[in-house]
Amino acid sequence: MTSQRDLKVALLIMIVLLVTGIVCYASFSSPTPDNPVRLMFQNQAGKVLFTHVMHTDSYSIECLDCHHNIEDDDTYNCSECHEETGDEDLPSRADAFHDQCMGCHEDYGAGPVECNSCHAL
Ligand code: HEC
Ligand code: HEC
Ligand code: HEC
Ligand code: HEC
Repeated sequence: MTSQRDLKVALLIMIVLLVTGIVCYASFSSPTPDNPVRLMFQNQAGKVLFTHVMHTDSYSIECLDCHHNIEDDDTYNCSECHEETGDEDLPSRADAFHDQCMGCHEDYGAGPVECNSCHAL
């Protein structure tokens, strides 16, 4: 016969396991990082490795300098707006990247501007 006490112990164990499960799930499921460490862009000219966190932390560039829209729209994804083909008002995704990445490297006199120093992989 199962006693009242056995049932209580079983219930207690179940609660402990449930709480452990929730804590593990919360700490190991990975939410979107707020500041991605690095991003790899695939394209036909050769992959481009972008050291995202070094640009913010080591080179001290503000989020808004690149994510020029996030004041009024919280999307960090350029291609939400800059699509495959652009026009004179809204540059295509590739033009938006080239203008922003190379433009700043030219302004700073630092960072790659040659095709194969970015498309290195
Ligand atoms: C030097 C330019 C630059 C700076 C500075 C910068 N970002 Fe980014 N970030 C990018 C680019 C480019 C992407 C890739 C977007 C894409 O693939 O469309 C990106 C992607 C992201 C993503 C991932 C978006 C996704 O769809 O997965 C997040 C989140 C993000 N940035 C947050 C930040 C935050 C927060 C800051 C400031 C602390 C910041 N970024 C500063 C250029 C920059
Ligand atoms: C919510 C929509 C939106 C997102 C997301 C967005 N842009 Fe733009 N972008 C625009 C619009 C609209 C324009 C044209 C008007 C202007 O210059 O602001 C533009 C213009 C530009 C220009 C030309 C600027 C100039 O001065 O001529 C560049 C370069 C650019 N975007 C790069 C990027 C990059 C890189 C990202 C991602 C890190 C990004 N944009 C994300 C909407 C967006
Ligand atoms: C607002 C300015 C700015 C923008 C925008 C920018 N960079 Fe840079 N980038 C820099 C600076 C500054 C350095 C540092 C150069 C040094 O110290 O030698 C750099 C360095 C680099 C380097 C070489 C060192 C490293 O960290 O790997 C690569 C590769 C690079 N950038 C790729 C990109 C790409 C790809 C983009 C566009 C998605 C981009 N950058 C956008 C400012 C910028
Ligand atoms: C500062 C880094 C950088 C430099 C320098 C650079 N690119 Fe890119 N390039 C990129 C990035 C970032 C993308 C966008 C990849 C994506 O859409 O995810 C790209 C995309 C491309 C694409 C794909 C376009 C498409 O429509 O899919 C081609 C082709 C290309 N670049 C050619 C070149 C050539 C040619 C040069 C030299 C004149 C050059 N790139 C210089 C970073 C660079």
